[in-house]
Amino acid sequence: MRMVDLIEKKRDGYELSKEEIRFAIEGYTKGDIPDYQLAAFAMAIYFQDMTTAERAELTMAMVESGDQIDLSAIKGVKVDKHSTGGVGDKTTIALAPLVAAVGVPVAKMSGRGLGHTGGTIDKLEAIPGFSVEIDTSEFTQLVNKNKLAVVGQTGNLTPADKKLYSLRDVTATVNSIPLIASSIMSKKIASGADAIVLDVKTGSGAFMKQLDQAKQLAEAMVEIGKSLGRDTMAIISDMNQPLGQTIGNALEVKEAIEMLKGEGPEDLRELCLTLGSHMVYLAKQASSIEDARQKLEDVIANGAALKVLKTFIQAQNGDPSIVDHPEKLPEANFKIEVKANQSGTVSAIVADKIGTAAMLLGAGRATKESHIDLAVGIVLNKKIGDLVSPGDSIATLHTNNENVKKVIDMVIEAYSFLDGEVGKPTLIYDEIH
Ligand code: URA
Repeated sequence: MRMVDLIEKKRDGYELSKEEIRFAIEGYTKGDIPDYQLAAFAMAIYFQDMTTAERAELTMAMVESGDQIDLSAIKGVKVDKHSTGGVGDKTTIALAPLVAAVGVPVAKMSGRGLGHTGGTIDKLEAIPGFSVEIDTSEFTQLVNKNKLAVVGQTGNLTPADKKLYSLRDVTATVNSIPLIASSIMSKKIASGADAIVLDVKTGSGAFMKQLDQAKQLAEAMVEIGKSLGRDTMAIISDMNQPLGQTIGNALEVKEAIEMLKGEGPEDLRELCLTLGSHMVYLAKQASSIEDARQKLEDVIANGAALKVLKTFIQAQNGDPSIVDHPEKLPEANFKIEVKANQSGTVSAIVADKIGTAAMLLGAGRATKESHIDLAVGIVLNKKIGDLVSPGDSIATLHTNNENVKKVIDMVIEAYSFLDGEVGKPTLIYDEIH
């Protein structure tokens, strides 16, 4: 087989066989096929697309390029959740103990944040003492005992995806549905999930800005999952403004705890209940989505979800007293109000800009090597649909540096206002099965 023939075949719109896809991915991972040939191949896929069978083969070729996590020692159906990335998305921290309290085993592998979006591991590390460095056998034991453990990304998972993603990044081939879908699904499958619930974001702060693109991506991922024997579904959720009110690590942990106490912002609660219901249902812990939702509401109301959170924090060396005393979480030295300079109703909050503003305060990483400040971030006091008068605080900066003029300007720029009423945006646009 010659790589040049495969590039030509895809360029001309033909379907590649399993063997051909394996040849390309295995050869590239080993270094036998050069970057320029894979770059041409990725561009051919970008223009010619892939069939469902090709997408599934590409996914499996990437899964098999490295280690695969074996979760078979964990009892029950292991359901993973994946979000395509948003600003203020602290869902995992609330959702994991929530579904675990209903009996769903959550064996979660999470990552760190980069750029304007945060990572679950960074957020959890805002809890004093919390460690994600646990070995595989401890991880399995903790999930069997407490129904929940979170570990940092370990081992050599999907090296082909890592190499291909870096190449796509510099060859204008990131934004391709078959390539994104197989990239995301390869990581989920390599991490051992039996079933997968996807949260595909759409809007100004999302990877997929347009609803129809988000739907296409969701459909592509659900098809790949199903054709590889994993029960998979997706919801499409809004990222036209950040989720909840907080952006920044300790601030987001606090908000997730509030949600588990039955308090906190409505959008976060609704998203957790929607995603959670599907996770509980796919894990066969409920007879219907409605039944699953009721079970989740019950464990919030009776405190069982909060108890799972405390046990989980303690098991991973964190201080569980932060659940009852969130003031023990790292706190910034200064709180600076960002004031509106006009009146109107908030009509948009560009989530990426708020994410970047939080990053400039130190809540996120500009580069992989950047050091982050777990205490800092932004609290949004006004969201879409809220009325504002000049001088009202639209947001509060939690900062350890008083020199924040640039950040204030960026937050103000992120907000748009209109005269008259503006409805609250739809939170869940669609479900894909
Ligand atoms: N996220 C991924 O993991 N892969 C992509 O290709 C794009 C976004």
